[in-house]
Amino acid sequence: MSATKTILITGSSRGIGKAIATLAHKQGYTVILHGSKESPELEKTHKVLAGSYKIVFDVADKIKTQKAIHTIIKEVGGIDVLVNNAGIALNIVKDISEIDDEKALQEWKVNVLGPIHCIQAVLPSMLKKEKGSVITIASIKAYPNYATLSSFTYAHTKSAVLSLTKSLAKAYSSKGVRFNAVAPGYVSTDISKTWSKESWDRINSGILLNRIAKPEDIAPMVMFLASDESSYITGSDFLVDGGYSLKGK
Ligand SMILES: NC(=O)c1ccc[n+]([C@@H]2O[C@H](COP(=O)([O-])OP(=O)(O)OC[C@H]3O[C@@H](n4cnc5c(N)ncnc54)[C@H](OP(=O)(O)O)[C@@H]3O)[C@@H](O)[C@H]2O)c1
Repeated sequence: MSATKTILITGSSRGIGKAIATLAHKQGYTVILHGSKESPELEKTHKVLAGSYKIVFDVADKIKTQKAIHTIIKEVGGIDVLVNNAGIALNIVKDISEIDDEKALQEWKVNVLGPIHCIQAVLPSMLKKEKGSVITIASIKAYPNYATLSSFTYAHTKSAVLSLTKSLAKAYSSKGVRFNAVAPGYVSTDISKTWSKESWDRINSGILLNRIAKPEDIAPMVMFLASDESSYITGSDFLVDGGYSLKGK
């Protein structure tokens, strides 16, 4: 790990992104925080992580995303690591008839086009330096065995980002830019506040390590993939699920 590396973590106002930003800051990175909008959470994280930068844009908006990233690149002199973490889950249904097109399209725009927009903005400068690491946050739901009807439209966005990660690794790894994905299992954040008590109980009983993850449980894998210690790893995806994939039901 180099103390002078700069990292942009999308969706770092709270949840998993905030935990990644906090660990990166502790490791000496120059941290660029991001949220969809100005918010008390983002402001608080910005204050706590002394010397961090803060930018806001909707990742679904290509023009605004690229403008904001190009501006911050000029200000900080480059981005070495991009973590595509911002994500949403909107279509939680009991029956296929309940799937809402608008919500499904919004999930696709944020979860799939969002990472594409951010990568489009950072990649040229990474290619110029012939060095960079891009980590995209997928989900255990990306793997067909763990897909459920209740979150199908979310799950398929996460399968798509695994595919995106591998496609980009094939295209750009030989030019110095690595692409990997981290797939969390079940993590206690604002997203998980929407789960029913039955879901919490079912998930809890399926985790080998007997507990739902904290955001801080996910951050170390991301920061390993950010670091030069992982310089031989590209095109890979890593489940961080407390063993749910072995036992889960
Ligand atoms: N929690 C889980 O169990 C779990 C499991 C597997 C994977 N994941 C994935 O992990 C990632 C982080 O999840 P989380 O649980 O930490 O979520 P969270 O606590 O709900 O935080 C979401 C973050 O994404 C940002 N965001 C949302 N929509 C955005 C948009 N359109 N443009 C820009 N930023 C946007 C939010 O910014 P604002 O604060 O401005 O709204 C916030 O910083 C997501 O990709 C999620 O799918 C989560």
